[in-house]
Amino acid sequence: MSQKRIAVIAGDGIGKEVIPQAVNVMGAVGAAVEMTPFDWGADRYLADKVTVPPDGFAALARDFDAILVGAFGDPRVPSNIHAKEILLGMRCQMDLYANVRPVRLMDASLCPLKGIEPKDVDFVVFRENTEGVYGDLGGVFKKGTPDEVAIQEDVNTRKGVERIISYAFEYCASSKKVDGSSRRRVLMCDKSNAMTHAGGLWQRVFKEVAAAFPQIETQHMYVDALCMQMVRDPRGFDVIVTNNMFGDIITDLAAGLQGGLGMAASANLHPGKTSMFEPVHGSAPPIAGKNIANPFGAILTAAMMLAHLGMTSEAQKIEAAVFEAVRQKKTTADIGGTLGTREAGEWVTEKVANH
Ligand code: NAD
Ligand code: IPM
Ligand code: MN
Repeated sequence: MSQKRIAVIAGDGIGKEVIPQAVNVMGAVGAAVEMTPFDWGADRYLADKVTVPPDGFAALARDFDAILVGAFGDPRVPSNIHAKEILLGMRCQMDLYANVRPVRLMDASLCPLKGIEPKDVDFVVFRENTEGVYGDLGGVFKKGTPDEVAIQEDVNTRKGVERIISYAFEYCASSKKVDGSSRRRVLMCDKSNAMTHAGGLWQRVFKEVAAAFPQIETQHMYVDALCMQMVRDPRGFDVIVTNNMFGDIITDLAAGLQGGLGMAASANLHPGKTSMFEPVHGSAPPIAGKNIANPFGAILTAAMMLAHLGMTSEAQKIEAAVFEAVRQKKTTADIGGTLGTREAGEWVTEKVANH
């Protein structure tokens, strides 16, 4: 296989600690990748006020097969304008419309819920990634006065809604759970009882797309009820599709089921285009630079990227090594181990190198 070209943007905070571990693991597993580091992030912004260099996204799309990202967010940049321009810029301007966030429990000890086993938590959230309230449309009127008005528009296009719902159904029709059984149900999560214009569009499109997949069960939940169900009993979830903001919120909640944000991986996809892969967590400033952040979310993200690029056996080796690390408690403290970020990453690196 020819080498795949990966742009690596570690970013800020713990991104700078976990991404090098993911890079080492990819090297050790023998993945056919050529990695090019990018310095986009808070340090670069503070030095030269550049968030994304001119033509930056076009260069990523032209010169790379995939992008591996850490996290953005730094207290020295109170507006976090760089995070918005780099991360949301990549998602939106590169049109990476499907934010795919798998939720898998690797070991019962990692789940805060009583009596929940790994087989009970194996679902995937498809989050619309280019629209909703993230477009920052709207404005402020009479700013700083008692009469101030702030409007944040929620943008939902038929094209945008249809493509993410279709993607979720196609995934459901073609993918298996970790235990080898078929996926069989797509649940749409919205707030159509209150947000009737946007919710109405999502409801209509969901029914239209579902009609083309008669073998797939459909289900609907309002986002508030879904949150309650997720912490009460996550066993029924299979494929969930939702809008940008609800997807953001429910995937942090879902990360809690897996052992916390340190375990959660994600992909930002547009079939046929250069896609971007990042752990779900942020830059976690309070724990940054202390060698305590869990690198497994980033390492599992690298595995998702390799699988996307066709390197399925390398991806499976990495997942198996992380699984084994969890089983043997060769982990950071957030999930019960005693290792540092580097040591946990090195354990997985050695494991994939020797198998
Ligand atoms: P966060 O994900 O950084 O942290 C939330 C909590 O989870 C914290 O207690 C943190 O210590 C813990 N945590 C996160 N990752 C962990 C890991 N790998 N190992 C162990 N513990 C981990 O979210 P936040 O605190 O809301 O945001 C911090 C900054 O990150 C903000 O600037 C925010 O905007 C940004 N952020 C960026 C991204 C991204 O770039 N993709 C995602 C989320 C938040
Ligand atoms: C995420 C993050 C981002 C989001 C922030 C940093 C803008 O929370 O990737 O989940 O809201 O999408
Ligand atoms: Mn988030």
